[in-house]
Amino acid sequence: MANAPDVGELTPPNRTLMGPGPSDVHPRVLKAMSTPLVGHLDPSFIDIMNDVQELMRYTFRTDNQWTIPVSGTGSASMEAAIGNLVEPGDTMLVPTNGYFGGRMESMAERAGGNVVHVDAPWGEPLDPVDVQEAFDEYQPDVFGFVHAETSTGVKQPNVSELTSIAHDHDALVVADTVTSLGGVELEVDDWGIDVAYSGPQKCLSCPPGASPLTLNDRAMDKVLSREHSPRSWYLDLSLLEGYWGEERAYHHTAPITNVYAIREALRLVAEEGIENRWDRHLEVASALKAGVEAMGLGLNPEDDYWLPSLNAVLVPDGVDAGEAISYVLEHYDLEIAGGLGALAGDIFRIGCMGYSAKPKNVSFLMTALGEALEAQGADVDVDAGFSAMREQLSR
Ligand SMILES: Cc1ncc(COP(=O)(O)O)c(C=O)c1O
Repeated sequence: MANAPDVGELTPPNRTLMGPGPSDVHPRVLKAMSTPLVGHLDPSFIDIMNDVQELMRYTFRTDNQWTIPVSGTGSASMEAAIGNLVEPGDTMLVPTNGYFGGRMESMAERAGGNVVHVDAPWGEPLDPVDVQEAFDEYQPDVFGFVHAETSTGVKQPNVSELTSIAHDHDALVVADTVTSLGGVELEVDDWGIDVAYSGPQKCLSCPPGASPLTLNDRAMDKVLSREHSPRSWYLDLSLLEGYWGEERAYHHTAPITNVYAIREALRLVAEEGIENRWDRHLEVASALKAGVEAMGLGLNPEDDYWLPSLNAVLVPDGVDAGEAISYVLEHYDLEIAGGLGALAGDIFRIGCMGYSAKPKNVSFLMTALGEALEAQGADVDVDAGFSAMREQLSR
């Protein structure tokens, strides 16, 4: 037998998280996570579950009864949505304009669905005309789109137009709201979204582990009238209904600490007010955008579909993105990220999410990024960036 491993105390570095997620966790959420456990069927925990559901409805802007935190990361709520809605033989229409449309495709295929595409380049949103054409051609049963594409920094506009097209064809709409929930305007009911899933570690500033999901009655009717059970037992919503619905019966042991965490994170949303929170993200990210633009850097998406919670900043010519990212991590303990897939090496992905969306962080980012770019001889005007940032913040 091997000797007991000599592993030291846990001392991760104290980073500032401004990448694509996770974002910095609010201290009140960390404190909630040190609350002693109760059992997942304890009467007091039932009250906590009710609070979470009520707060989650508020944040999603929905009256959907079926609103729950799925145990697991954003991919778990994503797979719960797709794996329950898509039955073998169903057709799902998915976007090709970013990394997470590809993940939707994989999940729909594993659920036994046929996948068809609506195309748009990475860095652009879906065009309703293309969505209409894809519906006319393929008559899909389910349509998925990404409201806030973390891989490209694109916010999908015209959501109501897309959902109307889908409903005219009797299809259900699934929205990926992982990088928009709690940070960017999102109106699940008013925009006609049937199912929305999200993650807690972005604009909610909560550690990953319990991921928001909401389904309206129409979607839940389909889930509950499936001919065959979904392939995942763990994420079968008809079984989870027993725990999160009226009955409150055991299905699996809920991640109690994560439920405490998301309750506190959502309480913070309600205290701030959801519209105020959207405004704060917009104001702080506008300062970041003004600053980097005045520095001489471009943003990848056009202003009309710029995503405040995730800023895709173009890497200037001659700069190695990876080197700059390592520089800010090493010298400033600041996490930002590079591009994925088609945009690898071309963009920096700079998050402005939740507790991290504050003027102090933007100023810090400008200092660190400016220095990292100057270190590589890039032609950037850091002073101009600071003036523009300050002007924007003082508006
Ligand atoms: C848009 C989008 N969808 C889905 C996911 C998957 O979430 P997770 O990594 O928490 O499983 C992410 C994660 O970054 C995301 O940004």
